[in-house]
Amino acid sequence: MHIRNVLVCGATGQLGTYITNGLLDSPDDFNVSILVREIGLQDPSKQAVVTVLQSRGAKVVFVPDVSFTLEGLIESLQGFDCVISAVGTPSVESQYIMLEAALRAGVQRFIPSSWGFDFDKLPQDVHPVWDAKRKFHQTLIDSDMDYTIICLGVIYESFFTPFFRFDLQKRRVLTRGDPDAKFAVTSYSDIARWLPKMLLDPACRNAHVNVYSQIVTFREAVECFEEAAGAPFNMEIESRASPWRCGQANCWCGFTDCVLYIIAQGGAVIDNAWNVARGEQSTSMREFAERVVTRRLPALTYLAIRGEKTLHSPSHTRVARSRNAIMVESVLSDDFPWPVLSADCG
Ligand SMILES: NC(=O)c1ccc[n+]([C@@H]2O[C@H](COP(=O)([O-])OP(=O)(O)OC[C@H]3O[C@@H](n4cnc5c(N)ncnc54)[C@H](OP(=O)(O)O)[C@@H]3O)[C@@H](O)[C@H]2O)c1
Repeated sequence: MHIRNVLVCGATGQLGTYITNGLLDSPDDFNVSILVREIGLQDPSKQAVVTVLQSRGAKVVFVPDVSFTLEGLIESLQGFDCVISAVGTPSVESQYIMLEAALRAGVQRFIPSSWGFDFDKLPQDVHPVWDAKRKFHQTLIDSDMDYTIICLGVIYESFFTPFFRFDLQKRRVLTRGDPDAKFAVTSYSDIARWLPKMLLDPACRNAHVNVYSQIVTFREAVECFEEAAGAPFNMEIESRASPWRCGQANCWCGFTDCVLYIIAQGGAVIDNAWNVARGEQSTSMREFAERVVTRRLPALTYLAIRGEKTLHSPSHTRVARSRNAIMVESVLSDDFPWPVLSADCG
């Protein structure tokens, strides 16, 4: 059956905003709604995103947090053909109740909040978030719901940021692992363009769909930045050692290290990409680096100076989230509207 009525969960998040905007660009194909928790609207930056998406035609399904129950959700999900989840990593578990409600509401397809490495390649027990995502995937596959599990490697927009330990002001990056290991990178704007087409492609029903914008190495990515900036960038490799165990001496800890570890192991290469097979246009790392340097470097530098370490995990705290939103606005506002947030840049 044709997918027309689409509900995005997590639409006020980084990825969710892009996805929702991409769907809104295809008004002849989709009626787009967003599921918004009223509690989230206490954050003015989220309220601003909702206003923009509404102005572009998204219908808002508000759910008061207290009634974020199975019964409430079943009612909220009535009439939708597809639920697309872009909830942040701390909320992966919330997808179980969403799936249950979607099944009972007669939703046809569920797209889980995967949006990362190819989970078939990823070893177990590297990071609990990935194990939790994989576990949910299995529940979804075993259910009566149609699914599309989308893997895309690393998001471009997390590059050249403190998440990957880039210091743009000092033109320095401190990394670990193998800087010559290949890995897949994908831009938010490419996903936003491809997702509507995936929903219309019968081959994406009950399938793992791999996509990527480019396969690069860490060293090549830094070279792209050097070329774009017209100045050398110093890459320091802190440790080539792997694997590691958190908690031990000289350990690699934290999510960034886990990502670098997977890259070093060759586990972040994506094969059989849907977009490559279809000849879809994609953004290169060079284009992305140029975009960062020529258009928005000052704002990114501002954030780097502030030394924020949680920029990439906006849902961890509200402050970090709105700072991250500034970063997204700073880098990519030419693609999508984020009118209010830049005022916070100071
Ligand atoms: N591969 C990569 O490099 C990469 C990079 C970034 C993200 N990702 C993945 O992309 C996905 C989205 O991440 P993100 O960074 O875009 O997330 P994010 O910015 O933290 O946004 C999360 C969104 O989910 C909503 N949300 C949280 N809990 C919810 C719940 N229980 N029910 C409904 N909505 C809820 C939040 O809104 P409220 O709290 O206001 O409700 C917010 O809109 C994740 O799976 C993440 O792992 C991958």
